Amino acid sequence: MDKNFYITTPIYYPSAKPHMGHAYTSILADFFARIKTIQGYNVFFLTGTDEHGQKIQRAAEKEGMDPLKFCDEISKTFQNLSKTLNLTNTDFIRTTETRHAKSVIDLWKILEKKGEIYLSKYSGWYAVSDEAFYNEDEIENKDGRKFSKISGSIVEWVEEESYFFRLSKWEKPLLKFYEENPDFILPESRKNEVISFVKSGLKDLSVSRKSLSWGIKVPSNPDHVIYVWLDALTNYLSALNYPNKEDHLFKNFWPADVHLIGKDILRFHAVYWPAFLLAANLKPPKKVYGHGWILSGEEKMSKSKGNILDPLEIISKYGLDPLRYYLIKEVSFGNDGSISKDKLESCINSDLANNYGNLCQRVISFAEKNTNSEVPKYGKFNKEDLIILAKFKKNYDFLLKSIDEQNINGYVNFVVNSLFDANKYFNDQEPWKKKNDIKRLNTIVYVSLDLIRKITILLYPIIPGTAVRVLKIFDIKENDISFQSVKENEILNINFKLKKIDILFKKIEKK
Ligand code: ME8
Ligand code: MG
Repeated sequence: MDKNFYITTPIYYPSAKPHMGHAYTSILADFFARIKTIQGYNVFFLTGTDEHGQKIQRAAEKEGMDPLKFCDEISKTFQNLSKTLNLTNTDFIRTTETRHAKSVIDLWKILEKKGEIYLSKYSGWYAVSDEAFYNEDEIENKDGRKFSKISGSIVEWVEEESYFFRLSKWEKPLLKFYEENPDFILPESRKNEVISFVKSGLKDLSVSRKSLSWGIKVPSNPDHVIYVWLDALTNYLSALNYPNKEDHLFKNFWPADVHLIGKDILRFHAVYWPAFLLAANLKPPKKVYGHGWILSGEEKMSKSKGNILDPLEIISKYGLDPLRYYLIKEVSFGNDGSISKDKLESCINSDLANNYGNLCQRVISFAEKNTNSEVPKYGKFNKEDLIILAKFKKNYDFLLKSIDEQNINGYVNFVVNSLFDANKYFNDQEPWKKKNDIKRLNTIVYVSLDLIRKITILLYPIIPGTAVRVLKIFDIKENDISFQSVKENEILNINFKLKKIDILFKKIEKK
């Protein structure tokens, strides 16, 4: 069985510092990376910054800065955010690195050699903000200016000599590829959008710019710079040391398992990228998942719109794990969602403080007083014990499937229900009334501790910092967390002295 797993985020434009939308994709990618890691996979998790092109060049000019210096500074804030978000990314790639240029140039040369690229002249609409070309029918007039209907970005007219990629030639092979790989584009609704775009007819794609200097030069014609999207998409290969196809990273991890992206850049990942790869005789990624947007009011939160929410502010006020929990649970994966402080506070109070925090606190302090803070030696499990313990084993395959199908809602609902069940179990069993039946008391404590262990393992990909603290009680170290162990029952060390924990989540006073 293939025990390697490669997941990527988009490489973000360092045109301004990161906002909540970037944090959202990164946290979700980390959720999948961590879950695959504790399932025993060898995980490669890539994120980074997309530093070439007109958008960046203009942003740097506006600050009166050299573009590379400008990128150095802002890329650093993205790298710092990865740390603040507690991401387990294996690598952070910058497209201004030499390793990346090598890989882009190689891909270009292959495409050129295969006759997939030719020189001609481009005239049409271009949105610098998206670094995208748009057809006439994708443009609308508003207040005397022209905008893309797709993204809402301002477009400008471009007319210049340009290299073209024979995208039109790949229309049929792409449709065939989508048909043969029904999970390539997810969610389903997005897949249909892409397919109808391709069916409506693909035109050859302009893949170089002459009026621009900030980028990777076309090897055979240095008057041209390679189109920033052809440059950027190749990052997924460069991080695996492509063009060295014998490199163990490339061999183990290509094709990528999931490119996790926002729906704004689906066309690039689901149409252009597989076309480039097929044309170069490389395998396309296995899956492109285009999630929804974090909204600000009714609109997409974005740098260009200036309506951003700074993740660092939220984290300094509420902590990282509450933000991770909120984004993973409350924003229905695949759909748009918004962040409201009110909902975030309710999440902290009801799910994290009441449901999870209290369960841990109650059981541990009960054990402190009644089992000498030890994992007690248990007696025979009764029916209630067996039922609640069996739920994890029974749902194990469902949980695995949920992860592989990106059914985050299904996964999280199981975890939340398990928390209710565990609290209810502890209440109903009333161990405090069993002081005359120590064997039963011990068994209830044992089962409750084991429920905490199981649930905490399931929570680990969502709130890793807190989960690691809780698992320490049982002396389970982060590297030893095993997803599979949630279906096992009798593995806690008897007589092990439970470690103390402080309050996990403070309740927020609501005004
Ligand atoms: O497009 N809600 O970079 P970018 C949810 N460099 N996710 C959001 C979001 C929002 N409001 N705003 C941004 C680029 N994102 C290119 C990518 S990849 C080869 C090159 C997230 O800085 C989401 O993942 O505009 C979106 O696709 C990505 O950031 C766009 O980031
Ligand atoms: Mg963008």
